[in-house]
Amino acid sequence: LIDTHVHLPQFQAAALGKGELLDWLQNYIFPLEARFKNDDFAREQSKLFFKELARNGTTTAAVYSTSHLSATDIAFKSALDSGLRISMGNSVMERNSIPELDLAAQENLQNCETLAAKWHNADNGRLRYVVTPRFAGSCSLDLLKKLGEFARTNDLPIQTHLSENLKEIEFILQQFPDFKTYTEIYEKTGLLTDKTILAHSIYLNQSEENLLKTHNCAIAHCPTSNRFLSSGIMPLKKYLQKSFKIGLGTDVAGGFSLSILHEASEAIESSKFYKLFKNAEEDILSVAESFYLATLGGAQAMNLESVTGNFKSGKEADFVILKTEKLSPPDTIFKSGEEILARIIYTGSHDAVLKTFVRGECIFKK
Ligand code: GUN
Ligand code: ZN
Repeated sequence: LIDTHVHLPQFQAAALGKGELLDWLQNYIFPLEARFKNDDFAREQSKLFFKELARNGTTTAAVYSTSHLSATDIAFKSALDSGLRISMGNSVMERNSIPELDLAAQENLQNCETLAAKWHNADNGRLRYVVTPRFAGSCSLDLLKKLGEFARTNDLPIQTHLSENLKEIEFILQQFPDFKTYTEIYEKTGLLTDKTILAHSIYLNQSEENLLKTHNCAIAHCPTSNRFLSSGIMPLKKYLQKSFKIGLGTDVAGGFSLSILHEASEAIESSKFYKLFKNAEEDILSVAESFYLATLGGAQAMNLESVTGNFKSGKEADFVILKTEKLSPPDTIFKSGEEILARIIYTGSHDAVLKTFVRGECIFKK
């Protein structure tokens, strides 16, 4: 199970807070992330976070840390110890948050260099460093350009947020008056590559979709978060028909659960609402498609399909063992593959996860 978008320092805020994105960030999230300046807190929270990922059956995740060098270094050490397959970066932030998180451009860049040199491809590629401009609202054009250049020269993956909320889009376009669209800001700064994951991507116009397609970028679909923060409904089936690389993201704490099984059921439910409210022609997402997004789709979004995502020979044996008695009802009369898969997705919370394996090694056991 693969989580293509999640925030380690936000785990303590799961299910808490209210309001839409920008207010929620200021009121709940930035003050919480500021606490990661304290190394002891960062250590304790990182350990808890990775343990919970494994307990939820996640084997691979694309993770955002805070902007701090030390907290991100601690998070990487914790990821190393956890046995999980983790791609992660320090959230690069130079403006529009709070003084404890916004760092000078030079310090942000220095942090990226230090962390990439130490952690990219650690443990034979199990850990990867990801260039992580938090979103366009956190960085100047010049800093975005430097991050694009840094990713290009070091052949690094990139992750950021895109087009999540209408007020966010308005705010971004005010910050960058020379640009017509949000996506163009990332394209002009070299941040759209075939190793880029864009979270949310709800309100793209045709030209923005074309840009993502041209650069073969991936989308992290975060349906629970999109509803929790009243952000909107992403046109998932339309994007699938256009063959975008798409994975699922819990986006904790925008999402309230670290379970990718939960996210898979939300993806189906959200596709029903999209069809209902938009009078869309596309079908709803099937159980099999949703399971695909939760596994191989996520691996493709993270460019890890040669090592994980299914049981094809030559891959590294990442898998979970679920206890069917923990599904509900525990003793089912419906036993087809499709029916069992539906039960797993809709009723298989962390409670059903018996063991989690990465590279054939058991990293969580009940
Ligand atoms: N946009 C910028 N930062 C964040 C964040 O932490 N969470 C979400 N959901 N969107 C963001
Ligand atoms: Zn996010």
